[in-house]
Amino acid sequence: MTKIKSIFVCQNCGFQTPKWMGRCPGCGEWSTLIEEVEEKVPAEFSFPSSEPVLYADVTEATKKRIETDIKELNQILGGGVVLGSLVLIGGEPGIGKSTLMLQVSRDFATSGEKVLYVSGEESLEQIKLRGKRLGVEGGNLFLLAETNLERIITQAEKLAPEIFILDSVQTAYSSKLSSSPGTISQVREVTNQVFRFAKKNKVCSFLVGHITKEGSLAGPKSLEHIVDVVLYFEGERDHSHRVLRALKNRFGPVSELAIFEMGAHGLKAISNPSAFFLRERPVDAAGSVVVCTIKGSRPLLAEIQALVSSTLFTGNPRRMTIGLDHFRTAMLLAVVEKKLGYGFGGEDIHLNVAGGLTIDEPAADLGVVTAVISCIKNKAVPSGMTVMGEIGLSGEIRSVSQPLARIKEAASLGYNSIVLPKGNIDALKKEKTQGIDFYGAKNIKEALGLIF
Ligand SMILES: Nc1ncnc2c1ncn2[C@@H]1O[C@H](COP(=O)(O)OP(=O)(O)OP(=O)(O)O)[C@@H](O)[C@H]1O
Ligand SMILES: [Mg+2]
Ligand SMILES: [Zn+2]
Repeated sequence: MTKIKSIFVCQNCGFQTPKWMGRCPGCGEWSTLIEEVEEKVPAEFSFPSSEPVLYADVTEATKKRIETDIKELNQILGGGVVLGSLVLIGGEPGIGKSTLMLQVSRDFATSGEKVLYVSGEESLEQIKLRGKRLGVEGGNLFLLAETNLERIITQAEKLAPEIFILDSVQTAYSSKLSSSPGTISQVREVTNQVFRFAKKNKVCSFLVGHITKEGSLAGPKSLEHIVDVVLYFEGERDHSHRVLRALKNRFGPVSELAIFEMGAHGLKAISNPSAFFLRERPVDAAGSVVVCTIKGSRPLLAEIQALVSSTLFTGNPRRMTIGLDHFRTAMLLAVVEKKLGYGFGGEDIHLNVAGGLTIDEPAADLGVVTAVISCIKNKAVPSGMTVMGEIGLSGEIRSVSQPLARIKEAASLGYNSIVLPKGNIDALKKEKTQGIDFYGAKNIKEALGLIF
């Protein structure tokens, strides 16, 4: 057997050396040398034709898709999993990646597809224990507990499944490299090999990858360009909901997103997220307001809460935000001070988006300001009212994108009035008002006048 050679390649300048070095002699950067397999592109993977082909003569590859039983997941994937595609599912430890994969396996296996679920993290008994919780009966589902990638691929080629799942990319290792599992070299090699396996055998393949809050750690981040689809699983540990969204999709849009709830029987898609996030909202409470934001491509109603209290000790007043951008919030408070004459110098201000959601769009600006003023005035926002609008530095209220989608969402949950940017009103005039009253505002003064 010929020994496969591995080399160390600088990720910064491309310098190559047979031995690892802490510092690259090529560019002088530290820790940029990564072990790679020195091999030619395997024959089966190189493109067959090396001559130019007329565009019109290229036959369109019809991408066959397999649908999962989870409607929301199909949507995120752009209408099901494309045959021969490689999907990376990243998420923090314990978020529910294995649960989702086992549920997907269950659905495929019961509908007749052959599924191979490879785990390098858990024993077969552990997987079965989770399977019991999820109601997995078996069907055409095969399990393999193995970490050596070459053995995994051999077994997979022998079994020839329609669906292949590797949980996780960090625990598998290729014997072609001397680096330990989980290093960048290894996760990249593992991904490359699974990618080739998927394409060659037309197998829908899934890779599970762990990421940290910072998003790196021998990262699935560095794999994003290799795989076809990247899905991220997010959520707060102490909340039961999880958000799954596409970060990259070679076969569909990336704006889709689904919200799941983790329960005793696994993950369940939440069909009405707005209602879910507002279900515990106190009625007629000061300091709380419902905003209509867009998450992915779908509108979502969320509750913003504010608490303003005097700073106890002399010193810096506190500004705490959960689920909102800290700097943007500071800017909004400054605008309110300047334009409305409030003084927050002696006030602690806490802002929170209920339910552990994060809102990262300026359309929620008016909501943030409204929550703060509602708390200061100790006056509740009228029930049935929602607000939206971006606020500029001179206190002007700017139009938001997709106003109609937001309004429809609010109306569907029974909201009957909305304060919104004047600039959006004209665009809406042509549309049916569907039982909701619009109040257009040019600046924050006007908006707050309309609300309170
Ligand atoms: N009986 C149960 N009822 C509700 N939730 C449960 C139950 N058992 C486990 N969970 C939840 O399932 C989640 C763990 O799921 P899972 O093992 O799929 O995550 P993972 O992302 O694969 O984690 P890891 O990083 O360990 O691989 C945890 O959030 C846990 O709270
Ligand atoms: Mg797991
Ligand atoms: Zn270098």
